[in-house]
Amino acid sequence: MSLTNRALWFKDDFLHFIDQTLLPLEEVIVSTDSFLRVNEAIKRLEVRGAPAIGIAGAFALALSQKYPLNSPSLSEAYDILVNSRPTAVNLRWALDRLVKSLGSDKQNNLYERLLAEAGKIHEEDIESCSRIGTHGADLFRGAVNILTHCNAGYLATGGDGTALSVIYQLQKRGMLKKVYADETRPLLQGSRLTAYELHKAGIDFMIQPDSAAAYNMQLGNIDAVITGADRIAANGDSANKIGTYSLAVNAAYHNIPFYIAAPFSTIDLNIADKSGIPVEERDPSELTSVKNIHVTRSDYPVFNPAFDIIPAKLITAIITEKGVYHSPFRFDEPAENN
Ligand code: MRU
Repeated sequence: MSLTNRALWFKDDFLHFIDQTLLPLEEVIVSTDSFLRVNEAIKRLEVRGAPAIGIAGAFALALSQKYPLNSPSLSEAYDILVNSRPTAVNLRWALDRLVKSLGSDKQNNLYERLLAEAGKIHEEDIESCSRIGTHGADLFRGAVNILTHCNAGYLATGGDGTALSVIYQLQKRGMLKKVYADETRPLLQGSRLTAYELHKAGIDFMIQPDSAAAYNMQLGNIDAVITGADRIAANGDSANKIGTYSLAVNAAYHNIPFYIAAPFSTIDLNIADKSGIPVEERDPSELTSVKNIHVTRSDYPVFNPAFDIIPAKLITAIITEKGVYHSPFRFDEPAENN
């Protein structure tokens, strides 16, 4: 089966998405017009990555109003969706934008009007991803080896990705040597999803255990680290997949630039710094078993945060669709030139 390079798309009144829990071993497309099914997909990480969650959530809110005689109220559907995953602010941002787009008329043609706004959010994200790729690639002068963590590619967004969009652009410009993809314990977004994308794009890459990152930096194999983010506070503190904080610390120790690539919808100006970012904790079974096979006793106590927070002072620059921001971060001002 040949799949387009998109995590999700809306066609013929159904949302279609790739079930990312099965990649790269199986490529299964789910098609649904049930907002509860989309909600479940977000919780199970069938659809994941901050911008993609926002877009899926937006289409789900529209779908919740598809059958007016058999629909939950808009606020019931909103409450269910907004609580599906707490860290990525893109979800709340997208849902709020849909509700706001209705203005004072929250009764008539809700499905069509919400759908139109969700479609706009998707289109804008495609454009943002492409601009992030260009702005990010402009930061580099010669050919580079890049380390990335988790998956911030097309599977995580509406377009070509954030961190991976920069990598795709470097590849186009002939400026990419190799990508090291952290496997990203415990759900392996790196070894499953980033590897899947890079392989399909014909990019030279290697998967490495998360614990090999510092050693690979010490060997001199990494020129820059680029990751995505799930929420960026007003001062630049950034939440991303668990393990990203250690990467940033290790990059600083080895004098390697550490970049975050994210659309503006990931920046939460309502939150001053990292203390306001909620970090999702996930089920212990993600650590005690792999694909339903126990690797340790299921009654052992587990600490399983899905994200950690990189303090702004460890971030060299934040690449957005509006340009590149350097530390100290002031997102209310125009982006600085590269
Ligand atoms: O738990 P996930 O897989 O949704 O976590 C995703 C990440 O941490 C990504 O790096 C982030 O959402 C940025 S995606 C462009």
